[in-house]
Amino acid sequence: MNVVITGAAGFVGSHLCERFLSEGACVFGVDNFSTGVSGNLSDAVRNPAFQLLTADVSHDFDDVISRAAAPDIVLHLASAASPLEYSVRSIETMEVNSAGSAHCLEWCKRVGARFVFASTSEAYGDPTEHPQSEEYWGNVNPIGPRSCYDESKRFGEALSMAYSRLHGVDVRIARVFNTYGPRMRAHDGRVVPNFIRQALCGDAVTVYGEGSQTRSFCFVEDLCEGLYRLATRQSASGTVVNLGNPDERTIAELAEVVSRLIGVPLRVEHGPLPVDDPRRRCPDISRAKRLLGWEPTTNLEEGLSKTIAYFRGELVAAK
Ligand SMILES: NC(=O)c1ccc[n+]([C@@H]2O[C@H](COP(=O)([O-])OP(=O)(O)OC[C@H]3O[C@@H](n4cnc5c(N)ncnc54)[C@H](O)[C@@H]3O)[C@@H](O)[C@H]2O)c1
Repeated sequence: MNVVITGAAGFVGSHLCERFLSEGACVFGVDNFSTGVSGNLSDAVRNPAFQLLTADVSHDFDDVISRAAAPDIVLHLASAASPLEYSVRSIETMEVNSAGSAHCLEWCKRVGARFVFASTSEAYGDPTEHPQSEEYWGNVNPIGPRSCYDESKRFGEALSMAYSRLHGVDVRIARVFNTYGPRMRAHDGRVVPNFIRQALCGDAVTVYGEGSQTRSFCFVEDLCEGLYRLATRQSASGTVVNLGNPDERTIAELAEVVSRLIGVPLRVEHGPLPVDDPRRRCPDISRAKRLLGWEPTTNLEEGLSKTIAYFRGELVAAK
């Protein structure tokens, strides 16, 4: 099986490369290193079945096509994913989810490959239905500061379905909910690395608003298992599937668990709530259970302990 993974050097992409390699696939990774890190691929590059190309999938796609073997599956993960990063890269984020997706889909059409799009729970915006099932259409501010991400992912989904309907491309869309784990960057602005970095450094953790907003945190290995099944199961063709952990927690509760696991007293500093910040976020994963036989198996404490161990190692290495 030949697999192309865009965004291969990112947090999720690098774990996903390893997941496919462990199944004996040949993996061709593509990344422009805008937010990706070469060290994330230090294990993958030792495997002869892995190849890496530095290229921008929004602009240099001919390079990808000329260097990669014809794929059976293209998994499109390239895109900034944290609010901090997509706000400074808003145009690139819109390009990679629109032009980048179009390039991948056109290639899939030509060679008869499957296309898997990494969409997001942000497609639901600030949801008015709870928990969110795939039938819910969302509540998105089309011109707000998060719109470069939310709306371009929604466009990527619509484009995928158009290629499915018009050209018969076998597409699968994952709406990925908050995922955490080793290889997140300490300063990428997402809540889990923020809290762990701050608590490990003995600082107060920054909670935006009162901390009563909720998120559901999925460990990266669980997510990659879901993505692997979505990409490889016949039953998943033409579908959109939520991939996330339905264990919903408040942000205040997350701060408490991180401090307890690190073994420091909880100290909280409050900051202003970001514009259009979703108040509640929790996936309905009935479809993933039914179609993929998938549900997360790593509980929050276990996943956070592994993530904290990774960040401790990174801090020691940085000294
Ligand atoms: N991690 C999460 O909680 C989460 C939640 C929802 C959706 N997702 C989606 O999963 C995917 C991966 O997210 P992540 O958390 O690993 O983010 P990440 O920033 O760690 O990884 C994204 C990767 O894409 C690369 N990239 C960006 N633009 C590119 C381009 N034009 N050409 C080539 N490479 C490019 C970056 O260099 C980086 O390596 C994204 O599509 C994101 O939207 C992630």
